[in-house]
Amino acid sequence: MNAHDSERLAGILASVGFAPAEEMGQADLILFNTCCVRDNAEKKLFGNVGKLKQKKRQNKKLLVGVCGCMMQQADVAEKLADTFPFVNIIFGTHNMAALPEMLYAAIFLGERTLAVSDQEDLPDETPALRAKPPLSAVNIMQGCDNFCSYCIVPYVRGRERSRSSEEILREVRGLAKAGYQEVMLLGQNVNSYGKGLAENIDFAGLLERVAEETGMKRIRFMTSHPKDASQRMLDVMARHENICRQLHLPVQSGSSRILRLMNRRYTREDYLELIRRVRETLPGMTLSTDIIVGFPGETEEDYQDTLSLVREVRFDAAYTFVYSIRRGTRAAAMEGQIDEKEKQRRIVGLVDLQGQITYESNLAHVGRRELVLVEDESRRDAGHVCGRTDGGKMVNFPGEPSLIGQFMPVEITQAKKTTLYGRRIDGDTQA
Ligand code: 5AD
Ligand code: SF4
Repeated sequence: MNAHDSERLAGILASVGFAPAEEMGQADLILFNTCCVRDNAEKKLFGNVGKLKQKKRQNKKLLVGVCGCMMQQADVAEKLADTFPFVNIIFGTHNMAALPEMLYAAIFLGERTLAVSDQEDLPDETPALRAKPPLSAVNIMQGCDNFCSYCIVPYVRGRERSRSSEEILREVRGLAKAGYQEVMLLGQNVNSYGKGLAENIDFAGLLERVAEETGMKRIRFMTSHPKDASQRMLDVMARHENICRQLHLPVQSGSSRILRLMNRRYTREDYLELIRRVRETLPGMTLSTDIIVGFPGETEEDYQDTLSLVREVRFDAAYTFVYSIRRGTRAAAMEGQIDEKEKQRRIVGLVDLQGQITYESNLAHVGRRELVLVEDESRRDAGHVCGRTDGGKMVNFPGEPSLIGQFMPVEITQAKKTTLYGRRIDGDTQA
């Protein structure tokens, strides 16, 4: 979501005459778009902004700004402003539309702006300056009303708000026309799409219309909350070839007791039942998840429940996190905060286990034929390009940059820990 916010900020900048710099050394404006979901980003940001002090001394015209949801926390924005007097512009996720005025004030009046408000000011249809095809992202909703007890998102991104289906369909249609082959529908909790809209629509309904009415070749979405992932959504996925067989379903913990403390509103058993239904409706679906270890009060037994759930489900991939205290959330005030060293031990055990399972899931692809949408040149292997399978697995194979944007049939020849390797099968190149 933040990456797409950056595309929207770039769109605003383009509308007032800015263009992307080739590299940071040539930039007139350096804008950091931040995230506050976990705490390590905060440390990195202060380090990175600090490094610019020297550059500002050498180039008096250089403008530096910091924005994003981390700035949506007023105390962090103020601390940043105090620590780094050379930062010209500081604003939250709700003040993006005011960027041209803030730039004007900095350039022509020499004024500094700190803008953090609760009311969102950017119209949804503001044109974004997107990455080149084939991949694109479209927001379908903003904010979150779930209040998981560890999470800061509802506080910084505000209440849940869905965009109208007409607006979303128009945007996706425009992208398909402009040569984008894939769209990622974005929301903190896509399954509650449609609540509060005048029209009668839910996420399954929206997904079906995007699949049928936009001409988009591949559709993905994130994030689904397990408590509201509906059978209707799974049925829509099963009916449409252009909806990718990939689902990100954050479980967070394998212990029902911890899930209750996290306010996730499902149990371990509910989650396992959902996975069973997913696999029954859509065999071969790629499944990924998010997991937190070291939540306050998590015992060894709770942690073992998480490991056993991971063994049972055998996710294709998992994003694993050490619990970090987010000020103002309910979990921050809970008793039984876990010692850092113990959290580290738990994350290492989980990462090892999932690493092995991801590798085995990759190995199972060797020998298969997959249709890969070529995204880019491979950064690691010269003369290779990379792209994803329908299920979202990354594949590297020998090829020219001219293949970017095309669907290529590829035979998987080798599996590594995080990536598959393959070779082109000549002939049919149709999606
Ligand atoms: N500590 C650790 N991980 C967190 N996440 C959200 N808040 C926290 C926190 N306070 C993780 C969750 C979520 C993902 C985006 O980030 O797993 O699904
Ligand atoms: Fe945070 Fe929970 Fe909302 Fe996800 S669903 S953004 S974890 S509060």
